[in-house]
Amino acid sequence: MRATAKAHTNIALIKYWGKRNEELILPTNSSLSVTLDGFYTETTVHFKEDLKRDIFTLNKEEITNIAYDRVTNYLDLFRNYANKQGVFAEVHSINKVPTAAGFASSASGFAALAAASAKALQLHLTDEELSRFTRQGSGSACRSIYGGFVEWEKGQRDDGMDSFAIQIAPQDHWDIRVAAVVLTAKEKDVSSRIGMKRTVDTSVFYDGWLESLPKDLQEIKEGIMACDFEKVGAIAEANCLKMHATTLGAYPPFTYWQDTTMTVMQTVQQLRKNNIPAYFTIDAGPNVKVLYLPEDEQRVLDKLQNTEGVSEVIVSKVGNGISYV
Ligand code: ADP
Ligand code: DP6
Ligand code: CO
Repeated sequence: MRATAKAHTNIALIKYWGKRNEELILPTNSSLSVTLDGFYTETTVHFKEDLKRDIFTLNKEEITNIAYDRVTNYLDLFRNYANKQGVFAEVHSINKVPTAAGFASSASGFAALAAASAKALQLHLTDEELSRFTRQGSGSACRSIYGGFVEWEKGQRDDGMDSFAIQIAPQDHWDIRVAAVVLTAKEKDVSSRIGMKRTVDTSVFYDGWLESLPKDLQEIKEGIMACDFEKVGAIAEANCLKMHATTLGAYPPFTYWQDTTMTVMQTVQQLRKNNIPAYFTIDAGPNVKVLYLPEDEQRVLDKLQNTEGVSEVIVSKVGNGISYV
């Protein structure tokens, strides 16, 4: 009853931003991402008959706060499914990604936890079933089951059976690059979960966001299939800006950006003025991810590394899905 799994993070090009059901984690809109090979989580889950409670370590430190509750509540799903109520687990996880800083640690974290739990309990789930389970740990995590380009279908049903991710193009479909521009690896003040809830509940811009999504999603899929970089980049950048605009229309209003976030956005715009196709996207945090093509790597990295406020630039290729160690 022990297994180790590895999962990569993903970056959304069309953002998931809002839940219609908080308990089952059913989203208000479909989303689309690229799996990143530069960031991952490796998690070992060991169910043991003699444990009195779950134990969770992250990067070798024992966790007892809300992140612990999130893990043990999540393990209950597997215990119930496998009829192993009362059998607790030791969970040891290593994040090769900054935790809770807008680099999608919840995506790689819950994808690795789900995969290792399912394997430890010998559940033999299909990818679709695993993605559905993973969704209930962290929404964005259901996309990290697969490599390449992935869509999370929001689904229609109230029970969530039709809300899971599918791969729309494999990893080798298209060699694009994503530079993660690290401004700070500090934990964010407003978690993704709290931020999206506040937005759904109060933002005067939320309806506009929802209305614009089906078109963005349809067009970006066409762009990905045709490997049309400018089309994909422009839609992703606009979609990201719309998502972040909704936080300013919330009450109390908030933003994930800091001044250096905008400086990097301007650097990317300058690259384009110099005829280098590069586009940015930003998750729930101040750090910026820049999309570009392999042939422009040197010029893009030079420019980003020399931007004020940038502490590190980490390059990802398109990554692969879950693996077992
Ligand atoms: P991020 O931008 O990193 O995804 P979130 O606010 O979405 O930030 O989620 C961060 C939370 O995800 C952490 O506070 C913790 O509860 C959970 N998390 C992160 N990494 C792991 C992991 N390896 N295993 C279990 N839970 C994790
Ligand atoms: C801005 O998946 O981290 O990164 O489902 O509450 O765990 P929970 O939230 P999470 O939200 C991700 C928000 C985002 C956009 C995205 O990844 O699609
Ligand atoms: Co997250």
